[in-house]
Amino acid sequence: MRTPIIAGNWKMYKTVGEAVDLVKGLLEGLGELRGREMVICPPFTALYAVRPLLVGTSVGLGAQNLYHEREGAYTGEVSPAMLADVGCGYVILGHSERRQYFGETDAGVNRKIGAALAAGLRPIVCVGEVKAERDQGRAEEVVGGQLAGCLDGLGAEQMASVVIAYEPVWAIGTGDTATPDDAQAMHAFIRGRLREQFGPETAEGVRIQYGGSVKPDNVDDLMAQADIDGALVGGASLKAEGFLRIVHFQ
Ligand code: PGA
Repeated sequence: MRTPIIAGNWKMYKTVGEAVDLVKGLLEGLGELRGREMVICPPFTALYAVRPLLVGTSVGLGAQNLYHEREGAYTGEVSPAMLADVGCGYVILGHSERRQYFGETDAGVNRKIGAALAAGLRPIVCVGEVKAERDQGRAEEVVGGQLAGCLDGLGAEQMASVVIAYEPVWAIGTGDTATPDDAQAMHAFIRGRLREQFGPETAEGVRIQYGGSVKPDNVDDLMAQADIDGALVGGASLKAEGFLRIVHFQ
């Protein structure tokens, strides 16, 4: 059985004070987390301040990116070891905004995955097609290519620590969600690819999140699908009440 994982991607939002306030609000309203995992991914600057609030709770901490080297003269970058040091358990890698605005490639994401795993971080690896690719009927081809490139060379044991996030780019921040059926079809396709590369046992255990305009009013239908094992939530993770409703999906 896969434990569903709901992660909040705060992107470039929240000062330290705002992040601390949001965490306090989340913890106040959280209640018991039964049969699910919750992770928040604040910006780098807030990680250290937020961490002590999460100790002893069931809420995990993640970052939104890293650089694949251990340390060195890489001005402006943050290493996997630094993230582990501030208490991160997860790191989002290959988000479409990083691919679009910062030139990230599958090969680069592949290096980052290896570095994250070596530091004991669990990568949340994002894949997803843009609108034109879906309209041309190429969504599976694109996502399949991203998976092959990002996961190249990984062993089954490593893959067991990876979470995949399927995020159709046209659904991110737009209010336009994939239908539960379309999302399920892509998740099943992704699991099929994982089965081919890593074998059935590993593929059955990997959690595949859906991301792209997940909201309190659509999360239940998405989560009811057989191969949807969680959500990567952007905009709707920035307010405690809405995010808690998503975390407590039915
Ligand atoms: P959204 O973002 O929920 O605001 O669409 C999701 C994401 O980018 O991870």
